[in-house]
Amino acid sequence: APVMAGRDFLSNLDMTPGELRTVLDTAHSMKRGEWRGVKPLSGLSLALIFEKASLRTRTTFDVGMYQLGGHAITLSNAEIGLGTRERVSDVARNLERWVDGVMGRVYLQQTLHELADHAAIPVINGLSDMLHPAQLLADYQTIEQAFGPDLRGRRVVYIGDGNNLANSHIHLGILTGTDVTIVTPVGYEPNGSVLMDAVKRGANVTLTNDLGAIEGADVLYTDVWISMGQEAEADIRRRAFRGYQVTPAMLDTIAPDGIFLHCLPAHYGEETVPEATEHPKSRVFDQAENRLHAQKALLYHVMGEMRPRW
Ligand code: CP
Ligand code: NVA
Repeated sequence: APVMAGRDFLSNLDMTPGELRTVLDTAHSMKRGEWRGVKPLSGLSLALIFEKASLRTRTTFDVGMYQLGGHAITLSNAEIGLGTRERVSDVARNLERWVDGVMGRVYLQQTLHELADHAAIPVINGLSDMLHPAQLLADYQTIEQAFGPDLRGRRVVYIGDGNNLANSHIHLGILTGTDVTIVTPVGYEPNGSVLMDAVKRGANVTLTNDLGAIEGADVLYTDVWISMGQEAEADIRRRAFRGYQVTPAMLDTIAPDGIFLHCLPAHYGEETVPEATEHPKSRVFDQAENRLHAQKALLYHVMGEMRPRW
């Protein structure tokens, strides 16, 4: 039965460790094909709002709704003008009359909270400046495929910008007991309140500027240095991050059975190179595939108890 019925998913911390366990179990089962023909979201619709570009998030939420018997409608910001053509609260109060859930990819995490505050239907975070929680579900499905379900003490090393992905990695350390190390240049550390929360909850999170921390990692993870919306800082950032590029030589220093992950898209020549994507330790395309399975599992657990209102 659905374990997050009707709830918002704005952060991985909106779920308990037990709920994460259930969602990942469902994702593994869906990947094995055990849900073929099962349509728990029949008659339900999900609106997908995009203030920014997307390949994976758009395709996997749309195909995921279809495979579960539901329907998705994509709304680009050029069409709806979130906060410009119309205030966010009015968009929320329109959508809740027609659809059964909203996924939002937005600039500000605050926009998701505003949507959630004004819509009675669940709101799902499809990436904000702060977090990318749906991505981390796929990432941990991929990590479990490599190391099994008990990840306590596994070393997850994130290298690069202390951005939305880095923040969400810290959240997964809180939920799963992985040992999370964030390696950034000075001045590009993850969000302070996310870190404080992790310390308060006793998570094993280490911040460092030292590339030596990569050695022996079970998982090495990177993401772009210039996130969507930061294009004006491109030159300063490229200079600040020099040396933090993931290369095949770096992958040789992680654990022998270690894996390399990247949420994609990759900016080749910056945070990584094509040879790392093609390296035997790379699981980046399995990870991209898992966006579909993990989000279908999420959609089932959030929307699976709703009945069509029409
Ligand atoms: N990883 C990810 O979210 O990809 P898109 O930006 O293409 O959706
Ligand atoms: N940190 C990147 C992730 C893209 C999926 C961004 O926010 O643009």
